[in-house]
Amino acid sequence: MAIVNAKDMLMQATEEKYAVGAFNCTNLIQLEAVVEAATEKNAPLIIQASVTPSKFLGPKVLGAIYRTLAESAPIPICLHLDHCNDVEFCKTCADAGYTNIMIDASKQEFSENIRQTKEVCDYCHGIGSVSVEGELGTVSGIEDQVKVAEDEAALCDPEQAMEFVDKTGIDVFAPAIGTAHGVYKTKNPKLDFDRLKKIAEMINGSQARVPLVIHGGTGLQPDVVTRLVSLGGSKFNVSTDLKHCLIDTTYDYISSHKDEYNPGKIDASVKEAIKGRIKYWIDLLGSEGKA
Ligand code: 13P
Repeated sequence: MAIVNAKDMLMQATEEKYAVGAFNCTNLIQLEAVVEAATEKNAPLIIQASVTPSKFLGPKVLGAIYRTLAESAPIPICLHLDHCNDVEFCKTCADAGYTNIMIDASKQEFSENIRQTKEVCDYCHGIGSVSVEGELGTVSGIEDQVKVAEDEAALCDPEQAMEFVDKTGIDVFAPAIGTAHGVYKTKNPKLDFDRLKKIAEMINGSQARVPLVIHGGTGLQPDVVTRLVSLGGSKFNVSTDLKHCLIDTTYDYISSHKDEYNPGKIDASVKEAIKGRIKYWIDLLGSEGKA
């Protein structure tokens, strides 16, 4: 039985300074690939589903697939709802068996962000084993239905971060520190490492309290990833990389097998390619052997 919420999984990561890969999935092949790769690496795993794929498959169906995969896997696995700005849908997914819910009210005024995030926390904590992720400051780029223009993005204020954590009761915290969703326009995006360090010290300095999340993993250079992890990021989100892998691999396979009408072979090549990406991230994040 390996059904775990994000908080329980990430406290150890925060203490030991490694990060758990949180991988966005949209279909069954990806789900199986991430579970197989993490199992082969004996690494804890967070499966993420954004709102659109959650609605497309249906939260109950996704919850059931997750339970089936997680219960038979020898590693801890969490199912996370990513960037949901609808309080009621957060509750629906918590009821359907997701074990970490991200309420993203980061575009709202500070007090309204606190109010909505607290409402989701109160509901999920009432269920018992469901943890909640909140965000302060905004991550630029596009992640599913959440779109933030570069000039709209705001970094997280460390003083407000403490107040946000205390007033909402969140279990996992995503501070905006300059990372972005999607493909970076430059090889060296401007990230505020000092801000992350300060926030990590304020929240988890004397003892691990609320694990920190790094959004926008795709495209970050390996040395940047390890620096963000060493400064306190213990949940590391990757989405675009896996979308590109799925689509590019499908396209390449079909282009080089034009007369073959065997969907199972396309799926197998996609699965192998995704597994390769997941193992790359697990190696970089230092979570191999931590299950
Ligand atoms: P990328 O798409 O940039 O990897 O970001 C993923 C993410 O942060 C999902 O919440």
